[in-house]
Amino acid sequence: MPGAPGRPVDPRPGRPRAVQTADVTVTDTGPATLTGYDAGLYVAQYEGISAVRAITQHTLGGPEVLTLVERPVPEPGRAEALVRVRAAGVNPVDWQTRAGGGVATRLGPPPFTVGWDLAGEVVSLGADAGGLRVGDRVFGMSRFPAQAAAYAEYAVVPVRDLAPVPARLGLVHAAALPLAGLTAWTALTAKAAVRAGDRVLIHAAAGGVGHLAVQIAKSLGAHVTGTARAEKHDFLKGLGADEVVDHRTTPIETITGGFDAILELGGGDNAARSLRLLRPGGVLVDIAHHAPRGLGHGTGLRVATMLVKPDRAALREVARLAATGHLTPVLDRTYPLSDAAVAHRRGERRTTTGKLVLTAE
Ligand SMILES: NC(=O)c1ccc[n+]([C@@H]2O[C@H](COP(=O)([O-])OP(=O)(O)OC[C@H]3O[C@@H](n4cnc5c(N)ncnc54)[C@H](OP(=O)(O)O)[C@@H]3O)[C@@H](O)[C@H]2O)c1
Repeated sequence: MPGAPGRPVDPRPGRPRAVQTADVTVTDTGPATLTGYDAGLYVAQYEGISAVRAITQHTLGGPEVLTLVERPVPEPGRAEALVRVRAAGVNPVDWQTRAGGGVATRLGPPPFTVGWDLAGEVVSLGADAGGLRVGDRVFGMSRFPAQAAAYAEYAVVPVRDLAPVPARLGLVHAAALPLAGLTAWTALTAKAAVRAGDRVLIHAAAGGVGHLAVQIAKSLGAHVTGTARAEKHDFLKGLGADEVVDHRTTPIETITGGFDAILELGGGDNAARSLRLLRPGGVLVDIAHHAPRGLGHGTGLRVATMLVKPDRAALREVARLAATGHLTPVLDRTYPLSDAAVAHRRGERRTTTGKLVLTAE
C-alpha cells in the first residue's frame, strides 16, 4: 500500500524521489542516498523514508495539545505536488484553530494538523501537475481554509497554490510570506483599491500582516501611517512608513483623519473607533474580524470584511514584489518544528514584530 509505514511512496515512473538544487542545502540526508548528478542538480533518492515528522493534536486546547508524531509520507494526487517542507509560517489562525476558533469548524473534530504557509522543494508531482518540476523551490498558502497540514516535513499541496520562490529569498523567509502577504495584497488592492497618493492607516503595522502591508502600500505609492508601540517605530520607518502612532499612548480618535483606506489588524474596538478617520468614500477593511455587526451602515462609510484564500495570481504578485526587493518578510523568531507549542505561546502574546516561522530542516 503506498504510504504505509516502512514503505516509501512510489514516485511517478522515471521521476527522482527528491532533488537538491545547487543553492539548497539538504541537511536531513540520513535516509537519503545521493544517486547522481543531472544537469546541475544533485539527485537524492529518499528510498529509506517510511515516516515523516508532523505536528498533530488530538484535542482542542492550549499549545500543550500540539504533539510531534510520525506518519507515512503522503502521496500527491493528480494536480498536486509532494513538497519537502523546509519551513512553515505561523499565523494567528493557527493558534485560533488549535484552540477551537479560527477555521476549526471547517476542519471538523481533531485529530488535525494546523499550518497553511509552507516553503520547500518539490519532491514528486501528480500526473496533471503542470508548471512545476521536481526540485523547484516553491512556497504558498495551501488549501486554506481546509486542512493543509503544513506543520510537517512533507505536505501534499495543490500546484495551483504554489509559486516559485524568488531567488533573493531563502526558504525560511519565503514561508513567512504567503498567508500574510496574500492578506495584505488582497486588502490593499481588491478591497481598498489603493492608488498612488492615497492615505492609508494600518493598525498593528509591525505584525505579520502589517509589516508586509506597509511595504506593499508603499510600493503602490500610498502615504502610510502605521500604529505600533513606540519601540517599533524605527522598524516601521525602516519599512517605509511615513507616519507612526503609538497605539498605547495615542487615542485612535486623536489621529488626524481623512484616510482613503484603513487596514484593521489590531482587534478590540479598533474598527469602531477608527471609522470616523475615513474620508467620505473611504473604506475600512476589517481583517481582524472585530468590527461590530452593521458598523458603517447609514454613515456613507464603507466597511469591508475578508477571509484570505489561495489566489495564484495574487501569490505571483507577492512573489514579484519580493523578487524586486519591494517586499521583504521580517522574521520575529524561528523555532524547530518540534517547538510548535513554544511558537504558539509567543504568538498568542500578540507582541511579535514580523513573522514566526517553524523550520523543518
Ligand atoms: N481575515 C483574514 O483573512 C485574516 C488574514 C490574516 C490575519 N487575520 C487577522 O489579522 C490580525 C493580524 O494578523 P497578524 O498575522 O498580523 O497578527 P500578529 O503578527 O500576531 O500581530 C502582532 C502585532 O499586533 C500588534 N497589536 C496587538 N494588539 C494591538 C492593538 N490593540 N492595536 C494595534 N496593534 C496591536 C502588536 O504590535 P504592538 O507590539 O506594537 O502592540 C504586534 O506587532 C489577527 O487578528 C489575524 O487573525 C485575518
